[in-house]
Amino acid sequence: MKNSNLLLISSSLALLGACSQVERSRDLGNPDVSGVTLVKQVCSECHGENGNSTSPQFPKLAGQQPGYLQNQLSKFKDHSRSDRLAPEFMYGISHALTVQQISEISTYLSQQTLINDNARTMPSDYAGRWIYENGIPDRGIPACQACHGTTAQGQFDFPRLAGQHKQYLVKQLHVFHANVGRPNTPMQSVTQSLTEKELDEVATYLSRL
Ligand code: HEC
Ligand code: HEC
Repeated sequence: MKNSNLLLISSSLALLGACSQVERSRDLGNPDVSGVTLVKQVCSECHGENGNSTSPQFPKLAGQQPGYLQNQLSKFKDHSRSDRLAPEFMYGISHALTVQQISEISTYLSQQTLINDNARTMPSDYAGRWIYENGIPDRGIPACQACHGTTAQGQFDFPRLAGQHKQYLVKQLHVFHANVGRPNTPMQSVTQSLTEKELDEVATYLSRL
């Protein structure tokens, strides 16, 4: 075989190798790795396969609004979201993500179907449902559905809440209530006068949707 042919073969092999490495890469610092690959190789470890996490410590991301995902990833990246677990878990992960990767991740996750095993038992008379749909006008609490949508699927930058882990929803409602780490959102005023019981009721309703 001629030398030039050998060279050609070995360089195409090297190229092939590089290609499959990028497709399976867990390298969060390599801009050539696609957002979809990162979801499958890295994010899935905590957020579950295609964003359907099974542990309530990790929020479900499947079927989440792409604009919301994009915002949160940018907020972890620039540290403007700093609720307790964010620095520990999400700062390192998001720190080198490119705008393109964030966009690919957000689009991909938003297209995944959320799996909710709790949805089977859904009574119609939840106290939390009333709060979700009407708010508590006497105390100036707005209807949640005005922003999060009638079925809590979210819209625009307002997150989907339907089918999220109850424990995670309750935790985030406390974060907004105490105004520690997720500033400059309407949620601080929304949660100001909600009681513990109401907060629990609305989270129960949403987690079963
Ligand atoms: C080691 C575990 C771990 C890995 C890996 C991980 N996350 Fe997270 N992520 C978390 C935790 C914990 C939270 C909740 C933080 C909090 O409570 O504020 C979170 C929160 C989020 C949120 C906010 C969701 C919401 O509803 O507000 C998004 C978006 C997110 N992660 C995206 C990703 C993406 C994309 C990847 C992969 C590039 C990833 N995460 C990898 C642990 C992880
Ligand atoms: C005026 C609009 C508005 C209303 C009304 C509203 N929300 Fe929100 N909500 C938001 C926005 C915006 C965010 C995203 C905040 C951020 O970017 O950090 C949010 C975030 C949340 C989150 C965090 C979700 C996550 O994945 O981390 C929960 C839980 C939540 N809202 C519950 C409620 C409940 C319950 C009500 C009704 C009592 C309600 N919201 C009413 C605008 C609203």
